[in-house]
Amino acid sequence: MTKKLYIETVGCQMNMLDSEMVVASLRKKGYELTDAVSEADTILFNTCSVREHAEHKTYSALGRLREHKKAHPGKVIGVLGCMAQKDQKLIFEKAPYVDIVVGPGQLQQVPDLIEKVESERGQHTALSLGRKSGSVDQIKRSHETFDPLRDPTMRPTPFQAYLRIQIGCDKFCTYCIVPMTRGPEQGRSPEEIIDEANVLAAQGCKEITLVGQTVNSYQYKGESGTVRLSGLLQQLHEIEGIERLKFVTNYPKDMTLDLLETIRDYPKISKYIHVPLQSGSDEVLRRMKRGYTVDDYRRMMDRIRETIPGSSVSSDFIVGFCGETEEEFGETISLLRECRFKNSFIFKYSERPGTKGAEHLEDDVPDEVKKRRNNELLSIQNQISEEDNQVFLGQNVEVLVEGPSKWAKQNSDQDSQVLQLTGRTNCDRIVVFDGNRRLAGQILPVGIYEVTPFTLLGTVVTEHRVPALTNLGV
Ligand code: 5AD
Ligand code: SF4
Repeated sequence: MTKKLYIETVGCQMNMLDSEMVVASLRKKGYELTDAVSEADTILFNTCSVREHAEHKTYSALGRLREHKKAHPGKVIGVLGCMAQKDQKLIFEKAPYVDIVVGPGQLQQVPDLIEKVESERGQHTALSLGRKSGSVDQIKRSHETFDPLRDPTMRPTPFQAYLRIQIGCDKFCTYCIVPMTRGPEQGRSPEEIIDEANVLAAQGCKEITLVGQTVNSYQYKGESGTVRLSGLLQQLHEIEGIERLKFVTNYPKDMTLDLLETIRDYPKISKYIHVPLQSGSDEVLRRMKRGYTVDDYRRMMDRIRETIPGSSVSSDFIVGFCGETEEEFGETISLLRECRFKNSFIFKYSERPGTKGAEHLEDDVPDEVKKRRNNELLSIQNQISEEDNQVFLGQNVEVLVEGPSKWAKQNSDQDSQVLQLTGRTNCDRIVVFDGNRRLAGQILPVGIYEVTPFTLLGTVVTEHRVPALTNLGV
């Protein structure tokens, strides 16, 4: 008899990928996915600890299951991912009806642990070692990558996939919990990565996004020398069927010229670089222990712009980090105006117990100030995005069609063949246009006639032009 699995995933691309693997491993055991908690035999939460808000959301979701589990004691409830590794047994204290707690480095144990709960009951944990709980080798071994299986149905689309090339992080930025939850940085072997990319290509995947916490720091020391991201991208470029390669997320200090030249010279590689700046103030960067100065970042931006014309760069920022003054925030605004990112993800600082920031620095910027700075930075970024998108007016761009747009999903007749589609350019800009849903997965030229801060609006340029819909309301 098939069993039903309900899984909720929050957080980064790494978590999406982890969930894909967990689902695939449970499908092998006869599970099917369900959208309804009430139907599920097993309920899993794949969690994030990067900001407190994400943890609150998970604890509230768990709270809502209290009565459900009382009524259905046979169901298995599991907490996976970074919050599992960080909070460990605290999860059982806050939600005593949880059965398993599994860190991101031990996900291969999920199927066995579920069976164990079903046969013996009891609460079980599978966690990796803490950063100080053993030798470096022991700690590394306790954080395993979990990439054996691919499940096309869990992907963003059938022709797009994430591929993990690295786990963990050794940078220890003072605000960040990731080095604690995901352990030491470890690169996967190029052979494994290439094999997996071949499997993906055979499944019809056209776009692969390589993921790692600091993906451009990737290195693997093998018998034939050290392989870096540039070499890996060049090897992946050879794979037939793969038409686009992306990689996230980057660390400014490791943005080497060989990588930039590879992006320039290999056409399948997306000319898009997400490389978080976090703050435009040297003092704040020092307190964050980011390992670079404003000038270093500026020089990196110059190198990117000189080496790869037409590339786009996006960033992350944290506002209201410990001790951030108005003047320091002003320096962030100036640098944002100077760098003119394609887009930025902006976060209010959230103190994370277990980090150096929480231990040594005071979270002293009031929440209203964080909110104001967040809004201010966002509105400047949006203005920049809208201004810079103007250059696309009247241009043709190459779009990998992803499928119906969000708007179409909510508003269109689900059976209609022609509807509003969305896709991305080579430099990661979102494009919306009308077309037949069968165009999904193709790379097509689209002529742009209107722009907003977030989107380019266009029409497909083909000999057999697809009839346009009117009144799409965008
Ligand atoms: N508070 C707020 N934002 C954070 N980030 C990481 N840790 C924190 C934190 N404690 C942000 C950084 C990072 C992105 C993934 O999340 O900007 O680049
Ligand atoms: Fe966190 Fe810094 Fe590592 Fe990124 S580089 S995962 S922000 S510690």
